[in-house]
Amino acid sequence: MNVQYPPTLRRLRQDPHVRALTREVHLQLDQLIQPCFVAEAVKQPEPVPGLTGVNQETPDSLLRQTEADLKAGVSAFLLFGVPRARSLKDIDWSFTAGQIRALKQRFGKDIWLAADVCLCSSTPHGHCGVVNAEGDHLDNDASVQELAAAALAYAQAGADCVAPSDMMDGRIRAIRSTLDAQGCERTVLMSYAVKFQSTLYGPFRVAAESAPQGGSAVQLKDRASYQLDPARPGDAWLCAERDVAEGADILMVKPGLPYLDLLRELSREIRKPWAVYHVSGEYAALEALAAQGLAPRAALHREILTAFKRAGANMIITYGAREMRSLLGL
Ligand code: PBG
Ligand code: ZN
Repeated sequence: MNVQYPPTLRRLRQDPHVRALTREVHLQLDQLIQPCFVAEAVKQPEPVPGLTGVNQETPDSLLRQTEADLKAGVSAFLLFGVPRARSLKDIDWSFTAGQIRALKQRFGKDIWLAADVCLCSSTPHGHCGVVNAEGDHLDNDASVQELAAAALAYAQAGADCVAPSDMMDGRIRAIRSTLDAQGCERTVLMSYAVKFQSTLYGPFRVAAESAPQGGSAVQLKDRASYQLDPARPGDAWLCAERDVAEGADILMVKPGLPYLDLLRELSREIRKPWAVYHVSGEYAALEALAAQGLAPRAALHREILTAFKRAGANMIITYGAREMRSLLGL
């Protein structure tokens, strides 16, 4: 017997048929989530620097864009509201709640609408919580109270999911119990459980008008005191386990590619649906490569989305969701 050892691995790579037949990882349009920005102060859709095809929308253009997205096969959205008014506490959530209500009135169950819950687009200093009197730390309990109020306002406006991105302690429990006490027990809770303090959020902060500002009264210049340190993977485990215990339905790793190791390990161990956020800076980097003719755009996106699936993501939040049917044939 003439056994070849090692076996020829290229046999199953030789043509597109056998490559498709042996593929293990599949991309699906119904597992992509499109982030959207709606800003009260903009008069017309304003393109976001670096994010091809993404605008800060007006209330009207948001509805038009959503209609186009549905036609492009995208039905899951993550909405970021950017109100004109800002305050240190007792924040008014009505602008974003109104956008949620309008979207759900118009599109109903045709869309699955998640609403980002955070303070950074609504505070004058751009931090994700309430700053203490000394101006050197976020007051955890005061922040959680504001977040729970926002989540309730969004759930009552009809959001299918609320997604807190602030990284305060105890916000998942507080939001879940507030929602349940007010008859919103069906609202899904997606936690930005494993969110790192990253340099890759730049384009987003332009779109969400949420860059943290130091200043005379506020000494905090960055988000290091609440977001995870990239050099502390152990903290990622603690956050994920804690958020499961507090009642999160879906967990997220963010950003994506630099934290693929954690997505892989966490999604294997923690049997919850996992989302990954391909964040604005990561997305813009790919777009810049393609724009310079240094990489083929479609194949670039396919490779990265495949990496997320391979690492264990169920759903992927990507700014390019609305283009993926035409780009990748999904
Ligand atoms: C803020 C928030 C950020 C993102 C989502 N929610 C950025 C930040 O923490 O400053 C990042 C998304 C992206 O970069 O695409 N709560
Ligand atoms: Zn925030």
